[in-house]
Amino acid sequence: MSNDHVSLVINEQPVTVGAGTTILEAAQSLGIAIPTLCWAENLTPANVCRLCVVEAEGARTLVPACSRACEDGAEIRTDTNRVAQSRRMVLELLDSTNDLSQSPELQTLIDEYGADSSRYTDPATPEPSPKIEDDLFIRAYDRCVLCYKCVEACGEDAQFSFAISIADRGFDARVSTEYDVPLPESACVYCGNCIGVCPTNALQFKTEFDLREASDWRPEDQEVTETICSYCGVGCTLELHTQDNQIVKVTSPADHSVTSGHLCVKGRFGWEYLQAPVYRPPSDP
Ligand code: SF4
Ligand code: SF4
Ligand code: FES
Repeated sequence: MSNDHVSLVINEQPVTVGAGTTILEAAQSLGIAIPTLCWAENLTPANVCRLCVVEAEGARTLVPACSRACEDGAEIRTDTNRVAQSRRMVLELLDSTNDLSQSPELQTLIDEYGADSSRYTDPATPEPSPKIEDDLFIRAYDRCVLCYKCVEACGEDAQFSFAISIADRGFDARVSTEYDVPLPESACVYCGNCIGVCPTNALQFKTEFDLREASDWRPEDQEVTETICSYCGVGCTLELHTQDNQIVKVTSPADHSVTSGHLCVKGRFGWEYLQAPVYRPPSDP
């Protein structure tokens, strides 16, 4: 085997991949699904949630598939009882301290792994109190699972603003601006890339929040239309999410070669003029 490639076996299926390929990527190439939470295709693995763990023969502990590079000759199992038990416990602990109701992916995993969070007492569930500091997006940290995705998207994976980070540790750990200042007073440039990667809807568009408050958020009735942002020559691809012929949010495909899912404030939020109320001059008396 050349140094450029490694061969391994995953769930008894042999596979050869390029050196540096993660176990997650190798499994995906075989069509084997591994659940993830803090991993995203457009971010550096933060390696903090441990939902993606798998069993590697000879290893003392389970290994995180999202960040562990494949080793030549490795034998990996993604479907053992030990793996399932570990994932179930991660899901139960997350569900016992967070509101995961707006994360369909996590709800599916909770059902699939039979996670029962009622087994745990709940010493630290924060009160729902969304931070609403502007007209663009809200932050509801009772839904935050501390996956670091927003921190990475704000930092060196995309925006390089470094407006937010994880403050404190343990049950006090939370996403915070510098010195906990309100977002408009922080280094935030309102690109909204943090919303684009948040897996639990802790960060969400104000438009979505308002529609949910009015019990009128209807994803099943929404359409997504791709177009090109016209504000500058970069030409980012936009996905316009519309409901009742009104734009309700704007995203970009994570696998797009130009944006990698990230936008700037103009592409992400500069569309409300399209829906401005029509001015009607007062009629002559
Ligand atoms: S706000 Fe969202 S993206 Fe940021 S750490 Fe919490 S769950 Fe992750
Ligand atoms: S989203 Fe921002 S960077 Fe991208 S084309 Fe629009 S204005 Fe330019
Ligand atoms: S997805 Fe691998 S540690 Fe979070």
